[in-house]
Amino acid sequence: MREEFVDPIARDDADVRADSELRPRKLADFVGQGELKQHLSIVLEAARQRNEAADHLLLAGPPGLGKTTMATIVANEMGAKLHVTSGPALERAGDLAAILTKLEDRDVLFIDEVHRLSRVVEEILYPAMEDFQIDIVVGKGPAASSIRLTLPKFTLIGATTRTGMITGPLRDRFGLVSRLEYYEPDELRQIVQRAATILGITIEADAAREIASRSRGTPRIANRLLRRVRDYAQVRACGAVSVDVADEALRTFGVDRLGLDKVDRAVLQVICERFAGGPVGLSTLAIAVSEQTETIEDVYEPFLIREGFLARTPRGRVATAAAFTHLGLTPPERSPELF
Ligand SMILES: Nc1ncnc2c1ncn2[C@@H]1O[C@H](COP(=O)(O)OP(=O)(O)O)[C@@H](O)[C@H]1O
Ligand SMILES: [Mg+2]
Repeated sequence: MREEFVDPIARDDADVRADSELRPRKLADFVGQGELKQHLSIVLEAARQRNEAADHLLLAGPPGLGKTTMATIVANEMGAKLHVTSGPALERAGDLAAILTKLEDRDVLFIDEVHRLSRVVEEILYPAMEDFQIDIVVGKGPAASSIRLTLPKFTLIGATTRTGMITGPLRDRFGLVSRLEYYEPDELRQIVQRAATILGITIEADAAREIASRSRGTPRIANRLLRRVRDYAQVRACGAVSVDVADEALRTFGVDRLGLDKVDRAVLQVICERFAGGPVGLSTLAIAVSEQTETIEDVYEPFLIREGFLARTPRGRVATAAAFTHLGLTPPERSPELF
């Protein structure tokens, strides 16, 4: 339950395991995100030269674009140990204090879903990030006192799918704030080819391109589709994966030519058919397709908006004429500002 919520795209265990197997370990192997890589290579090199911990880093962007991967790369490149936790896992102040006091000089602490930290935990984090100090309360009631501890210099890497939900004071304490962008088709093709090599799959260039173009700009989806295509090729076809095999496989698994999957189409279908094109409120939409509102907002909506199928209006979500056409429906006559 928890896992699914944290990472709505990676649903089954095999996929999660495969994710780590396919994770690039060096900055040079990380495809795309040129600006982030350039900034990081400078920041990390400078920190290494000074023999210091790198500055705190905030990574924002939709699921599956490489935030966790980048955190592991930073730790690797710094030759540092990586400690992993997440906003919701840190319930009490003591949970964070326990982790902070275990850190060693130049370690990397990765906090996933950092926008979901509770207020008390966040307040401990401020002096820890800024001055490498925490105040620990010992004892209870009138006898309670607080001890100040000095922490080793560490690097905090925060990841979030929601930049808008990070409080100003927290955001300001990161030396580097970076937004990961959706990947270009050619970058995804390289990611598919790299993954195919690691997994020992022989794939034709056209087939890699086909998978890439149906991956919603997201490496995790590209890798997942590659594994489904491999399964299909193994059972139905033989030898190298050709573009025809890739296409048949993806169609079999419900991924259409533009990369929309079953849930994407269900979202559009609900708006177009049940609500005559909208507007539909987010929570109504989420219930209608049996997904969490967060999943709709973080995963499905950004893609559908980017592809021009969905628009957000003050009164709710609206399907565009392109959405009707894609589903094989006739767009209704509506006032033009809705399209
Ligand atoms: N730039 C990249 N180059 C190659 N593979 C990538 C890249 N970004 C992500 N991946 C792959 O996509 C998967 C998901 O990335 P991850 O870092 O877990 O995303 P996030 O933490 O942003 O949800 C990883 O298994 C990794 O193999
Ligand atoms: Mg992650």
